[in-house]
Amino acid sequence: MKEAVKAMYNAYAPYSGFRVGAAILTETGNIYSGCNVENASLGATICAERNAATTAVAAEGKMRICAIAIASAPEEPVPPCGICRQFLSEFTGLEAPVYLVSSTSGKVKEYTFGSLMPLTFTGF
Ligand code: THU
Repeated sequence: MKEAVKAMYNAYAPYSGFRVGAAILTETGNIYSGCNVENASLGATICAERNAATTAVAAEGKMRICAIAIASAPEEPVPPCGICRQFLSEFTGLEAPVYLVSSTSGKVKEYTFGSLMPLTFTGF
């Protein structure tokens, strides 16, 4: 959660003004963080969660996520978007904890990944 908040402050969010940080713990015990990086085209924006996951893949290759923390400023912790849930599902077990953190109130909400993403698209 600390790493997610730290990454949040590095967010590049000049268009929405909404900063997000994410940190993922992999099976190796390493933590990889990411922040949202926006773009004037808007559609090229990448979310914090996917940024953290791609950093983990670049560092470890085949990797599994054990826990995820997501930080943003609203007093009520904000959940991940649907694209990120689908993206993370290829690396994350249904039992993995997801911690949603508010950097301002300190409030934390805990879910299992499976409760946020029960029916994932697994291929065709
Ligand atoms: N954002 C994230 O980083 N993660 C999410 O799960 C939802 C949204 C970012 C994208 C954009 O830069 C800003 O928040 C507003 O949507």
